[in-house]
Amino acid sequence: MMREEILHYLGTSNPEEISALYTSADRVRAQHVGDAIHARALLNISNYCRRNCLYCGLRGQNRRLMRYRMGKDDILRTVDAAASAGYKTVLMQSGEDGWYSRAMIAETVRIIANHHDIDIALSLGERPDDDYRCWFDAGATRYLLKHETSDPALYRALHPGSSLDERIRILRLLKSIGYETGSGVMVGLPGQSLESIADDILLFRHLDIDMIGCGPYIYNPDAGLMRPGDHIWTQKMKMDTVLKITALNRIVTRDAMIPATTATEISSPGSGRACALGAGANVVMFDITPLPWKEHYIIYPREDFTNGIGDYPRLAEELTGLTGRPISTGYGRRNKP
Ligand code: 5AD
Ligand code: SF4
Repeated sequence: MMREEILHYLGTSNPEEISALYTSADRVRAQHVGDAIHARALLNISNYCRRNCLYCGLRGQNRRLMRYRMGKDDILRTVDAAASAGYKTVLMQSGEDGWYSRAMIAETVRIIANHHDIDIALSLGERPDDDYRCWFDAGATRYLLKHETSDPALYRALHPGSSLDERIRILRLLKSIGYETGSGVMVGLPGQSLESIADDILLFRHLDIDMIGCGPYIYNPDAGLMRPGDHIWTQKMKMDTVLKITALNRIVTRDAMIPATTATEISSPGSGRACALGAGANVVMFDITPLPWKEHYIIYPREDFTNGIGDYPRLAEELTGLTGRPISTGYGRRNKP
């Protein structure tokens, strides 16, 4: 699909065209990655962050957030429980928290890899290049680092002290190390154009990104970036565009792993996740962070803190009931069962 056609779909409000787009994405999904939905156990190990991304509640300058970090034993205990519950992937995520040394993460990864039949994904932000190499050697096989927007000026405005070029350099490095590499963008940022979203989709393809997570920008009063209504993106436009970008990513990449993101469900409670799964997505994430930590990982306002690790079989069953699709018992690696 060419840029012009992508832009056309992003811009259309013709309901027939839109539903044809979702249908064809769903068909490509079935043909290239099958019906199974892959579940990821998401463990938010720390909400400390040295960055100040304007949209995010974890930004270092947000004094209203209670900060926590899990130590190695807390992490290992939680991953043990996730593996016992049947999860085949654990994603360890945090703000950019320099407290975790290269060696400490490597040691944690190594212990998990030696004890459990579970894939290890990391999303710990920008780190020295050798950290990524070391953690791959220790047994981590996936790394997520979203580029958020491919518009360099908007990127600079939202991310004090960092650049889009550096982000893209790291994504290439991660691929070259051998990681299955994840990226993604937010949709509905103030000042974000449909043209730049078309470029985001082309960039995913150009970099051969393996996992692509896109969700709506959600206003967080404690972060301070503009509130909804202060710019041109209405709530409906945002959600429509999230589903369109999900569908277009599927059509353009064919076999990437594409989550129905948490932000999508939170923006459209009860239907967001299912709609994304019907428009090309094939992955869901369940937050297994133990209480009370879970309540403090507030990137954007959210309310659902109820489900725990042991709820996995029930959540999986609910999802199958909702979509008619099975939950995968495999690892859910790109292109492999
Ligand atoms: N709304 C939606 N998603 C957000 N993220 C951060 N802040 C917001 C927000 N206000 C997402 C970004 C980032 C991840 C930590 O969470 O995509 O990569
Ligand atoms: Fe930190 Fe990531 Fe939030 Fe930026 S988006 S402030 S790097 S947690």
